[in-house]
Amino acid sequence: MTKNPKSSIKEYITSSFMLGTMRLGKWGCNMSSSQIEKFVEGCIENELVDFDHADIYGSYTTESDFGAVLKIRSDLRNQIRITTKCGIKMVSENRPKQKIKSYDLTKKHIKSSVENSLTALQTEYIDTLLLHRPDFLFDPYDIADTFIELEREGKVNHFGVSNFSTSQFDLLHGIFPLITHQVEISLLNRKSFEDGVLDQCQKYRIKPLAWSPMGGGVLLKKSNDQSIMKIQKQISLLCEKYNAGADQILLAWLRKHPTGIIPVLGTSKLSRIKSANDSLKINITHEDWYLLWQAASGKEIA
Ligand SMILES: NC(=O)c1ccc[n+]([C@@H]2O[C@H](COP(=O)([O-])OP(=O)(O)OC[C@H]3O[C@@H](n4cnc5c(N)ncnc54)[C@H](OP(=O)(O)O)[C@@H]3O)[C@@H](O)[C@H]2O)c1
Repeated sequence: MTKNPKSSIKEYITSSFMLGTMRLGKWGCNMSSSQIEKFVEGCIENELVDFDHADIYGSYTTESDFGAVLKIRSDLRNQIRITTKCGIKMVSENRPKQKIKSYDLTKKHIKSSVENSLTALQTEYIDTLLLHRPDFLFDPYDIADTFIELEREGKVNHFGVSNFSTSQFDLLHGIFPLITHQVEISLLNRKSFEDGVLDQCQKYRIKPLAWSPMGGGVLLKKSNDQSIMKIQKQISLLCEKYNAGADQILLAWLRKHPTGIIPVLGTSKLSRIKSANDSLKINITHEDWYLLWQAASGKEIA
């Protein structure tokens, strides 16, 4: 197994994109080991080295699918960074003791999740651990203590959260420094622009990770929904103006925000990663950003 090189926070926050693994396994295209291997190699060739996992993906199977590749290709481990998440307990045949869906951010659960993820991913360390959702019963001092132990044991290098409110983020960040906040951000979910999450990231100079940056694909697929069609119409006008694809316009829209949003791409296709890289040259104007906002919200701003 590859020893922990303690990748620095600096490397992590200079990534333009992350690759989300949620749809690679049982919850999506069910890639075989050799397909995952080729895909990871292709991502690395395209300078995409950050992979976003969660214990629950594929009903607790996708980390193992990915780990099976790292087992036979241990050379890949040092070329990538692994983020994974814990804290959601799902009803699954792979976790028979969990009778209902719940959130659990106790030390006991975080530590046992990390052990499971290390085993499944066939790695000695996790680059970044995210708390997947806020457990309403969370004790920030207990979590900070857990993070300190995991860091000291060399099992996790950095820590962040996902789907937290600004007050929940502040509560934990005040005790233990978090390196990122992963939230849903796209034209279909613009909440973080208004609820203070992005302001808070700017205040602490933390780059947010945007999950479902393409609205889960909805914004790119043919739709009969009037509100989606309206957004797509505006996107296609900008595609013409910037000589770009719809996916590229959506990424340029996210990148326009000064906080430095890192989209977590949910694709399983290397061609779309190339397209994402090419989108980095597109800089949409302030007014075009608002044209898209207006199309998505269905009204002119106040
Ligand atoms: N923290 C959280 O609570 C949370 C929740 C959900 C997701 N996530 C993370 O965020 C990642 C991304 O989420 P997501 O998968 O919903 O992201 P997404 O990028 O918004 O959607 C991905 C879907 O869009 C399709 N797609 C992408 N580009 C396309 C294009 N140009 N034309 C047509 N279809 C296209 C993909 O299909 P193809 O494979 O064919 O490209 C895939 O089905 C997940 O993998 C996971 O790591 C986190």
